[in-house]
Amino acid sequence: MAQPTPARTHHDWWRSAVIYQVYVRSFADGDGDGTGDLAGVRARLPYLAELGVDALWFSPWYQSPMKDGGYDVADYRAIDPAFGTLAEAEKLIAEAQQLGIRTIVDIVPNHVSDQHPWWRAALAGGPERELFHFRPGRGDHGELPPNGWRSEFGGPAWTRLPDGDWYLHLFAPEQPDLNWAHPAVRQEHEEILRFWFERGVAGVRIDSAALLVKDPRLPDFVEGRDPHPYVDRDELHEVYRSWRAVADEYGGVFVGEVWLPDSERFARYLRPDELHTAFNFSFLACPWDAGRLRASIDETLAEHAPVGAPATWVLCNHDVTRTVTRYGREDTGFDFATKVFGTPTDLALGTRRARAAALLSLALPGAVYVYQGEELGLPEADIPRDRIQDPMHFRSGGTDPGRDGCRVPLPWAAKAPYAGFGSHQEPWLPQPAHWPGYAADLQADDPGSMLTLYREAIRIRRDTPGFGDGPLTWLPSPEGVLAFARGDGLVCVVNLADTPTELDGHSRILLTSGPLDDQGRLPRDTAVWLLG
Ligand code: GLC
Repeated sequence: MAQPTPARTHHDWWRSAVIYQVYVRSFADGDGDGTGDLAGVRARLPYLAELGVDALWFSPWYQSPMKDGGYDVADYRAIDPAFGTLAEAEKLIAEAQQLGIRTIVDIVPNHVSDQHPWWRAALAGGPERELFHFRPGRGDHGELPPNGWRSEFGGPAWTRLPDGDWYLHLFAPEQPDLNWAHPAVRQEHEEILRFWFERGVAGVRIDSAALLVKDPRLPDFVEGRDPHPYVDRDELHEVYRSWRAVADEYGGVFVGEVWLPDSERFARYLRPDELHTAFNFSFLACPWDAGRLRASIDETLAEHAPVGAPATWVLCNHDVTRTVTRYGREDTGFDFATKVFGTPTDLALGTRRARAAALLSLALPGAVYVYQGEELGLPEADIPRDRIQDPMHFRSGGTDPGRDGCRVPLPWAAKAPYAGFGSHQEPWLPQPAHWPGYAADLQADDPGSMLTLYREAIRIRRDTPGFGDGPLTWLPSPEGVLAFARGDGLVCVVNLADTPTELDGHSRILLTSGPLDDQGRLPRDTAVWLLG
């Protein structure tokens, strides 16, 4: 069993960490009812320790009617009964800690579930109405929404209640937005942070972190007019400064879900008294192209440097197309707006590139996120239309396939029922017929598997000084080839050109994402870690 190393116990652990995202519902099913749970995670902690990750980020595990996969929270202090109990979560946090693995919880501050007590009290006409955004409609009879804001999932961001008023929901109607101008909303969230820090969590992921504050006048959005009525409002920084003071009491860290095109605006969230880190979505969305990737890496490093925050590197998560699928398509970038059913995909090509991308991202300066199943090389699954659950699909009018394809329950054992996810009941989302071929037990002993590559890469990354936080130096390289040095003589080369590239002047090959050719050259769509 892996022992905690200095990298895991150092107070700056988050600057160089490998953080594994657990989507509990689909990770492992301990009680066999078809839904993943905390018992399943606890049983798989040895697997995660062997993978070598420093921390686990749990997508929301709170009590929820699951209208948006748990991002609709009914009680931020209770575990959903389908997942387990608070006592089990506490045990899980402690057991993971014993293996040197920290826990990060996911806080959803922009909205609550329509089953949250505040929303129920608001609907009953209580003073809790002030905690949300209620407005009369426009038009002679109030029949038009108060403004033209659109939901992130499609359709209007307003729903009318039987009493005639409208309420705001930037996501699904079952996720009413909170009014962050109200002090009770702020106070409640600081108490929720304390609640989880007191239970031993090391960090908090902040959902939709740039959307909380709305212009109180709720004006229409006008393209090109700043500031935006609800994205990236300046008032947010004051919220995060006071959150930071709470986190500092516990030594906790934040990672913000901040999707912003403007890198200068993005970096403001990472000032020393605000969030420690934020997800790097421009790298995630970047196509498989050497010039574009290099530009994305340079821009990332340049935007983080002035605020002293480490970068993060993310290839996928529970919202986006799985990496091996994305890289196997003609358009290798990611954009929610362009997702359609039936995009042709070359999985062998995508897998080769995803292996190379794993070595690329694990060699870059900062922290790396691995989404469950990424280490198994799982592709995006096609979900039969009548089994789709994601509100994004329904609110697009059925044109967007939604996000369920990256949320399919994991295959653990090739020969077991439901590929070892659970036992007696079919998983909540159907697994494709080829799923057992990706099972962790098959891959564990296969030197050529994705799992072996991730294990090896993470092990080398931990054991070799120079990886993680620190400087990066680009090396001269042919067109279409990325080559950079880290630490004392570490070199990462990624070949995105059509032809093989020479590897000169190194003393040792630490790891390759695929075999070199018979002349010792690095083939296309392959990466290598070298010692100079
Ligand atoms: C974030 C989550 C996504 C969720 C949305 C609303 O983008 O990652 O899964 O649907 O917020 O909470």
